[in-house]
Amino acid sequence: MTNFATLNDLDVKGRRVLVRSDLNVPVQDGVISDATRIDRGSITIAELSAAGAKVIVLSHFRRPLGQRIPEMSLRPVAKGLSDALGGKAVAFSDDCIGEVAIKAVAAMKNGDILLLENVRFHKGEEANDPEFAKSLAALGDLYVNDAFSCAHRAHASTEALAGLLPSAAGRNMEAELSALDSALGTPERPVAAVVGGAKISSKLELLTSLVDKVDTLVIGGAMANTFLQARGFSVGTSLCEPDLVAVARTIDLRASATACDLVLPFEVVIAESLTEGAPTRTISAGEVPEDMMILDVGPAAVSETVRRLTLCKTVVWNGPMGAFEIPPFDAGTNAVAQAVGTLCRQGDLLAVAGGGDTVSALTNAGVADEFTYLSTAGGAFLEWLEGKELPGVAALSKAAAKAPAQENLAQV
Ligand code: 3PG
Repeated sequence: MTNFATLNDLDVKGRRVLVRSDLNVPVQDGVISDATRIDRGSITIAELSAAGAKVIVLSHFRRPLGQRIPEMSLRPVAKGLSDALGGKAVAFSDDCIGEVAIKAVAAMKNGDILLLENVRFHKGEEANDPEFAKSLAALGDLYVNDAFSCAHRAHASTEALAGLLPSAAGRNMEAELSALDSALGTPERPVAAVVGGAKISSKLELLTSLVDKVDTLVIGGAMANTFLQARGFSVGTSLCEPDLVAVARTIDLRASATACDLVLPFEVVIAESLTEGAPTRTISAGEVPEDMMILDVGPAAVSETVRRLTLCKTVVWNGPMGAFEIPPFDAGTNAVAQAVGTLCRQGDLLAVAGGGDTVSALTNAGVADEFTYLSTAGGAFLEWLEGKELPGVAALSKAAAKAPAQENLAQV
């Protein structure tokens, strides 16, 4: 596991602590539709505030690409953060650097919380510009990175800042890294990965990496169609990537070579179109008519998948098994997810899920609370599973290796 300082290593009373959170939450018509990231981030913020720190929160919101775009202001999120903190006041600064931010920070008392405007309103953020990072660093004495879901970005507020101030990981960052470590770093074996979703092209590196790491690899969703085609099955009008059939074959062969049990749906649910309530048929994977499409895994394939997962001690899950957004094509995802949830509840399995559509798929299945850990990260979760170094995490461990936070603190 990566070494880094945590909040336990910081003496924060009376200090200005810059906390990088990920408050990039879905907002529709000014209303936050899923506050999970805010709730998770609020734990670190509340702890620091209770310890007497002046808590200055940094975040991005969407992708304004260095422009000040009013619809991408973090201002509405300040209220959501205050709600997550049980109504504690959260002040807001219209800019994250410069005079406005300096004044807002100067007005803070111990325990106060200030949210700064979207760091991506400045080009320097995504450019990881040292001057922009210095302007941010000038606002604080200490830096806490709590945004695991942004750790795959080498941006000023996620990477450069860690080199400028005594740095530590926040509680959410710690929890994410610890869950991922139990899932794939040092897992209890046998370990299985369940990977679904539409396209192999977006998960090529993931599949290639997993096939060498896990004992069982369950492939579902439309990406399974490309693997079925690689095994010589006709997939009718199903979503499929014919130009990646050769790649799928290579992954399949690699699985045989590494004794990774690659599980494809041998039974599928088909329909003429992806329409709610469309008439369906359940057939063997090799019997898909030319004018029909595969939209879910069949019940016998679900039972077999569950049987194999029951033999495992650890499961890492990314992506749905079928077109779960449109019933009844959520049945396969729901059934496998519910079985995994039950095994977790019984203490027989450790299951960690995350990335892209995964949280909505598991929420739809009613098991979001039953998995051992549900990551709020999308791209960062995938890149970690791919075995890539995450710049935000690497920067924290580099800072810890250079000078433990406590020693740094003495120099502040
Ligand atoms: C996410 O939503 O995955 C994170 O907030 C990172 O956002 P980004 O993909 O725009 O960097």
